[in-house]
Amino acid sequence: MMWTLNKGHLVSLAALCAALPTTLAWGAAGHEIVATIAQIHLDPSVAAALCEVLPESAKCHLAPVAAWADNIRMRMRWSAPLHFANPTEDHPSQHCEFGGKGWAGKPGMHILGAVQNTSMWIRNGLEGEEEALKFLVHFVGDLHQPLHLTGRDRGGNSDKVRFDRRLTNLHTVWDSKLIAKSLRTISRNYTHPLPSQKIESALRGTIYDPYIRQIMHEGILGRFKSEIPAWLACPSELSSPPHRAYPLQIQTLRESFPSTTSLQPSPPTDDSLICPFSWAEPLHALNCDIIWPAELDEPSYAGRQPHEYIELDTPQYSGVIKEQFIIERLLAMGGIRLAAILNYLYGNEDGNGLRVNMDFDGFH
Ligand SMILES: *[C@@H]1O[C@H](CO)[C@@H](O)[C@H](O)[C@H]1NC(C)=O
Ligand SMILES: *[C@@H]1O[C@H](CO)[C@@H](O)[C@H](O)[C@H]1NC(C)=O
Repeated sequence: MMWTLNKGHLVSLAALCAALPTTLAWGAAGHEIVATIAQIHLDPSVAAALCEVLPESAKCHLAPVAAWADNIRMRMRWSAPLHFANPTEDHPSQHCEFGGKGWAGKPGMHILGAVQNTSMWIRNGLEGEEEALKFLVHFVGDLHQPLHLTGRDRGGNSDKVRFDRRLTNLHTVWDSKLIAKSLRTISRNYTHPLPSQKIESALRGTIYDPYIRQIMHEGILGRFKSEIPAWLACPSELSSPPHRAYPLQIQTLRESFPSTTSLQPSPPTDDSLICPFSWAEPLHALNCDIIWPAELDEPSYAGRQPHEYIELDTPQYSGVIKEQFIIERLLAMGGIRLAAILNYLYGNEDGNGLRVNMDFDGFH
């Protein structure tokens, strides 16, 4: 089943959310927001090329296929582990290893491998391109939900909390509750179009259009603008000097775990242009810094009664996340990286690194 969040479908969306298993990735809205931000940053020739690959029902847009991989997860069970990564001995917030101690599960069968695999699939022109594209759009989204990068408490699914007094779990808070709250509280002026045909034509009349306008105006063209080149960089093993955007260079990591030890090295998922491991590493660190409230580290927490579960819709938790624009940054990063990967895979320019199209008809 495929769904979109058109204006008239609020009721069915609510029903759907109630029915969805809590292990789902970013809610459908999160995935569609990432896909729409990507759509905004495609080169026109790439958007046209994608049109030929996408199913007709998607009307040349990435968002309608963005939640597909969750919808088929039960039918294609083999794909389930590809939505997340479980770094071994990773237990935010006590310690925060990301792959230094290896990975749970079959080698390569995690989200980092999935991003690499699906992009290679497309680059090599293998059969099944439409499916690979739909997976790629989804997995780049999941990569930017930090709870998909840790195995602690099943990515927070087992951590009972409250949000706006309702019983929920930590994973769901990050999948959808924080996004839903932003949609409810967004400033009215974003219901008006932005003065850019390129941006507006990527919007589809959904309930989250105002949120995308805000992320574009205040984020991508505002406080994130200077960060974007670093979002697109990979610590290349080929180029020197290595890019300084990340404190931990992948070479260093590999060198510190020589293959003679019993430890698995970091997954060989990165190349000089598409580097899911290097992108994921600082996102995973958010689990240790801000995502797990200290109360959940108390051994007695699991024995609490429902009325004692901690509330996360507070100035100290959701308030700080909003103030720091953390969800907006994650959604923007996901969209920018997805656009850049697609511009590379479907563009005909010789690759001088990943890039996005920022030509917004003079709006900046
Ligand atoms: C993707 O993964 C599948 C299953 O592990 C493997 O057979 C295939 O060769 C991989 N393809 C690419 C292009 O990496
Ligand atoms: C909308 O309102 C917010 C809050 O007042 C403001 O920061 C922002 O710049 C406005 N956006 C536009 C596009 O005018």
